[in-house]
Amino acid sequence: MVKLFNRTNGKTPHDGEIEQPVIAIRAITKQYPMGEETLQVLKGITLDIRRGEFVSIMGPSGSGKSTLMNILGALDQPTGGEYFLDGEDIARLSPAALATIRNRKIGFVFQNFNLLKRTTALRQVELPLIYANARDRRNRAKAALESVGLAQRINHLPSELSGGQQQRVAIARALVTNPAIILADEPTGNLDSRSGTEVMQIFQRLNNEEGITTIFVTHDPWIARHTKRVVMIRDGQIVADQALEHPLVAGVDERPSEAHELQTLFHETYYSGKAEEYT
Ligand SMILES: Nc1ncnc2c1ncn2[C@@H]1O[C@H](COP(=O)(O)OP(=O)(O)OP(=O)(O)O)[C@@H](O)[C@H]1O
Ligand SMILES: [Mg+2]
Repeated sequence: MVKLFNRTNGKTPHDGEIEQPVIAIRAITKQYPMGEETLQVLKGITLDIRRGEFVSIMGPSGSGKSTLMNILGALDQPTGGEYFLDGEDIARLSPAALATIRNRKIGFVFQNFNLLKRTTALRQVELPLIYANARDRRNRAKAALESVGLAQRINHLPSELSGGQQQRVAIARALVTNPAIILADEPTGNLDSRSGTEVMQIFQRLNNEEGITTIFVTHDPWIARHTKRVVMIRDGQIVADQALEHPLVAGVDERPSEAHELQTLFHETYYSGKAEEYT
C-alpha cells in the first residue's frame, strides 16, 4: 500500500540515543472549585508515551479519563504538573497558542463523531487543512478518505453515511494534518460491533503500517485488547499500566459470544470485583 503520510516526526533515533517520548506528563493534577470545596479530578498522573505506541485508557465512569484526554489533546489545561508534547512544554500556554499546537500536532476523534451536518465528507476532511492554511488540500483530503476506505463516499453528507462510516470520516479528518498523535475518546462507543471492528482495523493499520501514535479511551475490554498497552485509571490516578504481548487482530479474532463474555465477567467480578467497574 502507498505511504500516504511523510512523517516528519517519524525519525528513528541513532544508536545509543534515547528517544524522547512524544507525550511526557509529570504529576498532572486537575481540580475544579465547587463552592467552598475543591473537586480533585486528576491527582497526579505521570505517564510517558513513545512514538508508535498504541495505548488504551480504561477506568470507571467519572475516574477522569476524558479530563486526562482533553489535557493530552490540548483542549484543556491542567491545574498543576508538566506536559511536554513532542519535547515542547505546553502546560502553561495561552488558549491561542494551544489551539495552534492542537492543529499542528494532534488529531482528535470523538465518541459522537462531531461532524458538521451539512458538509460533505471531503469538505469535513479539508477543514483542518484550511485552518492550517495548507496546500494541496483537496488531494490530501481525498487520500485521507481513501486510506479509511471511503473513496466512494467523498461527496456524502453525514446523514447519508452509516455510523461506522461517519467515524471513519472523523478519523480521516484527524489524520489529514499528519499529527504526531491521534487521541480518541471512546471512538467505538456509539458503534455496533461490526462498525467497531472496522474502526479498530483502521486504527491497527495506521499504527502498524504508518507508525501513528494512538491513544484512546474505551469501556470495552475486548476493544482494549486490540491495543498494545492498557493504562487503567481509578479515582484520578493510574492504578495499572500493562503492555499486551499479543494484541488481538481486529476482524480476525472473533468476539466471544455475549453469554461467554457475561460468564467471564461474572467470574472476574466474583473473584476480584474489578471487571464490573471497568466496563
Ligand atoms: N467542568 C467540570 N467542572 C466540575 N467537575 C467536572 C468538570 N468536568 C468533569 N468534572 C468531574 O470530573 C470527574 C471526571 O470526569 P471525566 O469526564 O473525566 O470522567 P470519565 O472517566 O471520562 O467518565 P466516563 O467514563 O463517564 O466518560 C467527574 O466526577 C466529573 O463530574
Ligand atoms: Mg469520559
